[in-house]
Amino acid sequence: MCGIIGITGRHTVAPLLIDGLRRLEYRGYDSAGIATLVNGEIQRRRAEGKLINLDTLVEKRPIDGLVGIGHTRWATHGRPNEINAHPHADKNVVLVHNGIIENFQELRQELTDKGHHFETDTDTEAIVHLVSSFLTKGNSPQDSVSLTLSRLEGAFSLAILFAGYDGLIIGARRGSPLAVGYGECEMYLGSDAIALAPLTQNICYLEEGDWVELLPESAVIHDNNGTIVNRPICQSSVSEDPNNKGNFEHFMLKEIYEQPTVIGDTLNTLFNPWKRTVTLPELTFNLGKISRITIIACGTSFHAGLVAKYWFEKVSDVPVECDLASEFRYREARMPKDGLAIFVSQSGETADTLAALRYAKSKKQHTLALVNVAESSMAREADSVLLTLAGPEIGVASTKAFTTQLTVLACLVVATGITKRSINNKQAASYCRSLIEIPARVNDVLSHDQKISDLAREVAVAKDVLYLGRGTGFPIALEGALKLKEISYIHAEGYAAGEMKHGPIALIEDNVPVIVIAPSDELFEKTASNMQEVIARGGRVIFLSDKDGIKKLGRMAAATIEVPTVDSFVAPILYTIPVQLLAYHTALIKGSDVDQPRNLAKSVTVE
Ligand code: M6R
Repeated sequence: MCGIIGITGRHTVAPLLIDGLRRLEYRGYDSAGIATLVNGEIQRRRAEGKLINLDTLVEKRPIDGLVGIGHTRWATHGRPNEINAHPHADKNVVLVHNGIIENFQELRQELTDKGHHFETDTDTEAIVHLVSSFLTKGNSPQDSVSLTLSRLEGAFSLAILFAGYDGLIIGARRGSPLAVGYGECEMYLGSDAIALAPLTQNICYLEEGDWVELLPESAVIHDNNGTIVNRPICQSSVSEDPNNKGNFEHFMLKEIYEQPTVIGDTLNTLFNPWKRTVTLPELTFNLGKISRITIIACGTSFHAGLVAKYWFEKVSDVPVECDLASEFRYREARMPKDGLAIFVSQSGETADTLAALRYAKSKKQHTLALVNVAESSMAREADSVLLTLAGPEIGVASTKAFTTQLTVLACLVVATGITKRSINNKQAASYCRSLIEIPARVNDVLSHDQKISDLAREVAVAKDVLYLGRGTGFPIALEGALKLKEISYIHAEGYAAGEMKHGPIALIEDNVPVIVIAPSDELFEKTASNMQEVIARGGRVIFLSDKDGIKKLGRMAAATIEVPTVDSFVAPILYTIPVQLLAYHTALIKGSDVDQPRNLAKSVTVE
């Protein structure tokens, strides 16, 4: 959502803060700002829009100080303009905030009644006035923060500076992540380890309710009750500079092209090449005794969960429900004894998914986090963890995280099938062979990049686009439509091909491209019939199939993309690549901001 950084040490912090914000910009880019203390006085620079605007402003009007905080915003309360940009301040205190203060209206009213004057439309400003009101009553910064925290409802992470207290930053976390970085006579705060990667690898993650006092040479952490506590310091695994696009024009394209490698890396952690079988890390539950699986996620990760539902039910004979986290968390779901709840998330921080995890734990489910960030809240709170090794994903549109999620889920499905004996040795060996093949076949699909880029010209002029698929092709249709929507701003819908006749077929016109996902599997003929129905009504079909499928039906389509012939089990992973590339090239033609599309943020840590 928003990105936070704080630094207290020996160097002029403004350039370091801006550099940190550059690495956090993927979390939000509606506005950015920094604040420092110079001889105890608050200095502040803020700019609407992307970080480059703040950078230019700070170049024109430099800002000194050895202690400072910074923020990159994804707007929740108040328009994304300069007034609403963080840091928010009065004469005593300046702070940055990630999250939502749910009782801000009530606090605002109370403080206004006491004479406080509010300048912004944000929920955050209420925290400024609250801290300030405690300070002016003679409380120390530490006591003022502690008293303030007891009044806040909602989810947040905070970094706060106090006029007259050079060197001091107080950070706090409840619901939103916050990491403390330990340097040489320099201490840091960051929304994640990526922000702090070039500054330090020594990271400590604050726990729920913690707050921390940072000075250049010390960090004192307090828990929810104010008791001083020790939290483990670990070595962050983030070393790569996530701002390096290599020779690619966009992170999204780089990340699409990384897929053969990162799928291979992920498989290597779950596969024994000598025995040619799946070997999962130790789990805290017995896969053979699971009575039901609930998969919970949002967005693209939810689509990965949907594919897994088809896989689990077919291969491992276990009933599966797949839920959107935002719906699941409030619907008082019944969760049976010996149920396993799987939480799929790139970031491991998505607020709805995290809340669903906590709900499942309260219902005594076994919990398994499938995440890309080893240090994330979900990884720390779930009973067991399976990691995708996608590396940092910077493009807001998720690509390599999705295919590595599918890779891990496929391995989990096969392992469950073997444990439950729902598949025999021969079947297990066949699934495993198909898994080993994926990186090479994904590479083959990437060779169609130019053809897909040509097809994108047709898609780019459309107002609406439909994606159709059956079985595991259906979630890929949903994913293709989501990718197109979020980066090209073209209206797109993914449909189960068999549902067309129940309504959506009314949308078919010759200017509505219809992307049909149809591997030669047991559902091919059914999908083929639905495609004929579309063509009979003048629809222009872009047909994604393998050699056999294209031989049978390719001539009926306006265009075809040939995907390698593979076991239908792994087909959804391969058919993802063309829909990613099609969205990318369409967005490129439309001139939209591929890596930072409007209104979005990479990690959604509010509900
Ligand atoms: O970090 P998560 O996987 O939990 O994020 C879930 C969604 O916010 C995310 O997949 C979103 O839908 C992507 N922008 C889609 O490309």
